[in-house]
Amino acid sequence: MTKVSPSMLSSDFARLGEELARIEKAGADWAHLDVMDGAFVPNITFGPPVIKAMRRHSGMVFDAHLMIQDPARYVDAFADAGCDIITVHCEAEGDIHEAMDRIRARGIRAGVSLNPETPVQRIEPFLDKADLALVMTVHPGFGGQSFIPECVPKIAEIRKIAESKGKRLEISVDGGVNAATGRTCVDAGATVLVAGSSLFKLDDMAPEIARWKTYGPTL
Ligand code: DX5
Ligand code: ZN
Repeated sequence: MTKVSPSMLSSDFARLGEELARIEKAGADWAHLDVMDGAFVPNITFGPPVIKAMRRHSGMVFDAHLMIQDPARYVDAFADAGCDIITVHCEAEGDIHEAMDRIRARGIRAGVSLNPETPVQRIEPFLDKADLALVMTVHPGFGGQSFIPECVPKIAEIRKIAESKGKRLEISVDGGVNAATGRTCVDAGATVLVAGSSLFKLDDMAPEIARWKTYGPTL
């Protein structure tokens, strides 16, 4: 079954506890937490203290997507805050191997992400340390953008590399995901669909999540 990770970026930040309960009740597998530093991307969202507060309201898997420079500096803070998966960008400044080693040292899952213009070769050196590869299908920074279809072949490329290594790897896609683009991504080898605006705009996202979960096959 495909996993669904709604992006809390599209939720009501004044009611994060209730919004987490809402996605959990709707059948979401993970909660996607977009952390932006105003340097790696031109937007600022939230950091460890807010995630720590969210943790008190939810037992869900927290899927943190760090769109920040020098992520190694903050791995411990995000792990302490209660993140279960921490994904860093291969394009970020700083030592990305060190960031991934630190995530693994905390006993949580490590992810590596790549922007739409970044070729797959750039994340290849990190895949041995990765439990998850996150393929951006919009330019990171904002929700509600249109899906960039040119990114889809990268999903299949990553899947092929993982298979050639005999490696179990989740591949998530993030940006402009809806019922149609999500299916295309799963067909290409994605196992996790991250979606903000297309889910949060619905009064009841449960039927949509249930439908997406039937997309397959997965790990
Ligand atoms: C964008 C974030 C995404 C964003 C997706 O930089 O990484 O997770 O919330 O939003 P939608 O699904 O609206 O494109
Ligand atoms: Zn994201």
